[in-house]
Amino acid sequence: MARIVTANPQSIADAAAILRDGGLIGLPTETVYGLGANALDGKAVAKIFAAKGRPSINPIIIHVATIEDAEKIGVMNDDARAIATALWPGPLTIIVKRQDHSGVSELASAGLPTIAIRMPAHEVARAIIAAAGVPIAAPSANASGTLSPTSAQHVAESLGDKIDLIIAGGGSSVGLESTVLDLSGDVPVILRPGAVTPEDIERVLGTKPAIDDGAHDKPKSPGQLLRHYAPLTKLRLNAKGPEAGEAFLAFGPTMLTRAKLDPSIKNLSSSGDLHEAAANLFAYLHELDKGGFNAIAVSPIPDEGLGLAINDRLKRAAGAQQ
Ligand code: TXA
Ligand code: MG
Repeated sequence: MARIVTANPQSIADAAAILRDGGLIGLPTETVYGLGANALDGKAVAKIFAAKGRPSINPIIIHVATIEDAEKIGVMNDDARAIATALWPGPLTIIVKRQDHSGVSELASAGLPTIAIRMPAHEVARAIIAAAGVPIAAPSANASGTLSPTSAQHVAESLGDKIDLIIAGGGSSVGLESTVLDLSGDVPVILRPGAVTPEDIERVLGTKPAIDDGAHDKPKSPGQLLRHYAPLTKLRLNAKGPEAGEAFLAFGPTMLTRAKLDPSIKNLSSSGDLHEAAANLFAYLHELDKGGFNAIAVSPIPDEGLGLAINDRLKRAAGAQQ
C-alpha cells in the first residue's frame, strides 16, 4: 500500500523527487485528486495508463504552475491567454495545439495534435508542480471508469498498491473534475462541464461557448467515449424518495424525518446549495456504493450553473450502467 502523508515541506520535496525519478504520486487538487507523473518522461506516463487501466487513446491533462510554463507546451492563442489570465489558477482545463519540441510525451496526449493544460489552484498541487520543475501529467487518481477521488483515502482504496506516495491535502473543495474547454478550433467548445461555467467563459471571451457532450458520432474528447464516473450500485435519477432496499441521495430540504440518522440517506446539500452538493457528490456516492443497496435513488438537481456539471456526472454514471 502506498504511504499517505500529510502535505508539508518535507513530503512535498519527497513527492517532487519521486516525480523527477519517474515515479507516480497521488496529489490533492481542488477538483479531485490526481495521479501525477513527469509529463516529459514517456515511461513515467506509461505507468499512469497501466496503474489506471486507462485505454491509451485517452489523453491526459498536463498540469503547470505558471502561464509561462503553459506557453512552453501549448500554443496559447489570444483566447487561451485571455482565459488563462482571467480564470487560472482554478478548476479549468484548456485544449490548445501542442507546441513542437516541448518534450511532452506523445503518449500523454495520445498522439493528438492538441494538448490539455490546467493550472490548479490548490496550494499543495502548486507547490509540488513548482518543486518538481517539470509539467505534471495527471488524470484523476482512480481506476479507469470508476468514481473520481475527492480524498487521499479514496486514492488509496482505488490505486494504493500502484503509487509510490500519496500526499494528503484535505477533501477536494470543488469535488468535480475541471471544466474542459477546447480552444483549438474556430469556436470555443466545452467538452466537459465543471465549476467554471459557460457564463464565466462568456464573460471573458464575449461569446457563449458551444457545449459538446460527446453524444454523437465523433466525440472530440476521447474520454467522452468511455464508461465514466460510475459507482457499482445502480443509480435511479430524478427520484422523489427511496423505495424498499434503496439508498437515497437527496438534495435540498427533505421531508424524511429519519434523514439525519439513517446511514442509507445522504443529503448533498440540505439548504440546496449547488457548490456544497458538488463537493459532497463523489464522497457520498463512494460511501453509499459500499452499503450493499439495490440501487441509489437520487433527487432531481436543478440543471443550471454548477448543476449542469453535477447532472452531467450523474447521467454518465447512470448511462454507463445500462
Ligand atoms: O479536475 C481534473 O481535470 C482532474 C485533476 C486531477 O486535474 N483530472 C482529470 O483528468 O479529470 P482525466 O484524465 O480523468 O480527464 C481528462 C479528460 C478526459 O476526458 C480526456 O479525454 C480529456 O480530458 N482530454 C485530455 N486531453 C485532451 C485533448 N487533447 N483533446 C480532447 N480531450 C482531451
Ligand atoms: Mg477521470
